[in-house]
Amino acid sequence: MKKTIGIVAATLVVELIVAVIFIWSGLYNVSTLSPDPGPLKWVFSTTSDNSVKHHANGIIVPQNVKELSDGKTSGNSQADSSMIAEGFDHYNDMCVTCHAGPGLNKSEAGIGLYPQAPDLARSAKELPPQDLFWVIKNGVKSTGMPGFAKTHSDSKIWAMVAFLEKMKNMTPQQYAAMQNANSSMKSMNMKMHMSDHEH
Ligand code: HEC
Repeated sequence: MKKTIGIVAATLVVELIVAVIFIWSGLYNVSTLSPDPGPLKWVFSTTSDNSVKHHANGIIVPQNVKELSDGKTSGNSQADSSMIAEGFDHYNDMCVTCHAGPGLNKSEAGIGLYPQAPDLARSAKELPPQDLFWVIKNGVKSTGMPGFAKTHSDSKIWAMVAFLEKMKNMTPQQYAAMQNANSSMKSMNMKMHMSDHEH
């Protein structure tokens, strides 16, 4: 028995030394062009998926976002459409670089990411709204996904989630129509602002 314990302990020490030598050697390739080997990929993605689930558990989803997510409403009420429009504004400004969107391509920076930023229309179909909220608020370490908690209030982040729930079923034409509505609204605001200064 004592002998077995001794062998196990010695093996562990040798493994630890090999691991430390590997880490110091610089042999592991951190290039985005060199995909992680399968088992390592599994370790990262399983750790990340379960971490999101664990930390998002218990987050209370606003009732209207829940209804949008369950398909119980299509978000046409005044309150829902202004929340979705606010979420769209953030999405169109800050997320398309990496995630693209209906009818949109990724930027050159987005194309170069490893791991790649997923299509969020699909993520919104697969993940519950509290998971989307948690990821947007906290980000995901060492992946390029920023956390927006330092710059955006919870209500702004819920607006982004509401937009993602709407984007699940959005055609490129509908997305383009929102872009047009948004830019004409912005130019109207700018004109009003400029005429304020003229008086
Ligand atoms: C600089 C690039 C970048 C930007 C900008 C960015 N993301 Fe991400 N995002 C990523 C990457 C990369 C991942 C994948 C992380 C991973 O593999 O765990 C990701 C993952 C996510 C996920 C999890 C999806 C899933 O299926 O697990 C959500 C939700 C998300 N991003 C939302 C957003 C929103 C909303 C914005 C804008 C407010 C945004 N992201 C901006 C790079 C980015």
